[in-house]
Amino acid sequence: MDVEEAIFKRRTIRRFKQDPIPSEILKKLINYARIAPAASNIQSVEYIIVESPAMREKMFSLVKFASSLPEDQRTPESGREPTAYIVVIINTDIKKSYFDYDIGAAVENILLGAVSFGLGCCWMANIKGSKIRSLLEVPEKYEIKHVISLGYPDETSKMEPFEGSYKYWKDGNDMHVPKRKLDDVIFKVL
Ligand SMILES: Cc1cc2nc3c(=O)[nH]c(=O)nc-3n(C[C@H](O)[C@H](O)[C@H](O)COP(=O)(O)O)c2cc1C
Repeated sequence: MDVEEAIFKRRTIRRFKQDPIPSEILKKLINYARIAPAASNIQSVEYIIVESPAMREKMFSLVKFASSLPEDQRTPESGREPTAYIVVIINTDIKKSYFDYDIGAAVENILLGAVSFGLGCCWMANIKGSKIRSLLEVPEKYEIKHVISLGYPDETSKMEPFEGSYKYWKDGNDMHVPKRKLDDVIFKVL
C-alpha cells in the first residue's frame, strides 16, 4: 500500500472484530512512531501496549468514544470492543514541554501504519488519565497524554463533503465524516 492510499483509507474506527492483533504488529507500529519527527530531535514520547484480555477489559471504561454522536451510538457494543490499546506517555525527564507536535507526528505514523496492516484505530484524548495511571502503574514522571484504540474494523467510515457542520454521524454500521474541500483549505497560492 502506498502512502496516498493509506492516507485516504484511514478513518477513525470504533467497532472491532475480536481477532487478536499479533504482538509483532503492535511493536511494528511503535517502531514507526519511534522515528517520527520530534522538535530538536528530543524524543520523549513512550508507549504502553495493552493487549491482554484482562487489562483490555479494564481499559475499556477509561476511554470515551465519539462524543459528537447521540449517547446510544457512542460506545462499541459488547463483543465489538478494541482488541488492543497503545497508551502514549511523555517521559518528563527527557522533555517537560513542547511535546504535543511530537505526539501528533508519532500517532499519525501509528494510524497510517495500522491501515497498511488492515487495522482500524481511534486516537483518543477523552481519557481518564489518573485511573489509567493507577491501572497500568505509570510513575508520576510520565504524563499520560493519549490512548489509541485498535482492532480489525467491524464498521465502515467514509468521508462526506463538508456542508457547514463538522459533526460526523452514524447510519447503521457506517460512519460519515465531513471533510472540507481542497480548494477551501488552500488559503492562497502565491
Ligand atoms: C487529538 C484527537 C483526539 C481525539 N479524541 C477522541 C476521543 O477521545 N474519542 C473518540 O471517539 N475520538 C477521538 N478522536 C477522533 C476524532 O473524532 C476523529 O479523528 C474525527 O472525527 C475525524 O474522523 P476521521 O479520523 O475518520 O477523519 C480524536 C482525534 C484527535 C486528532
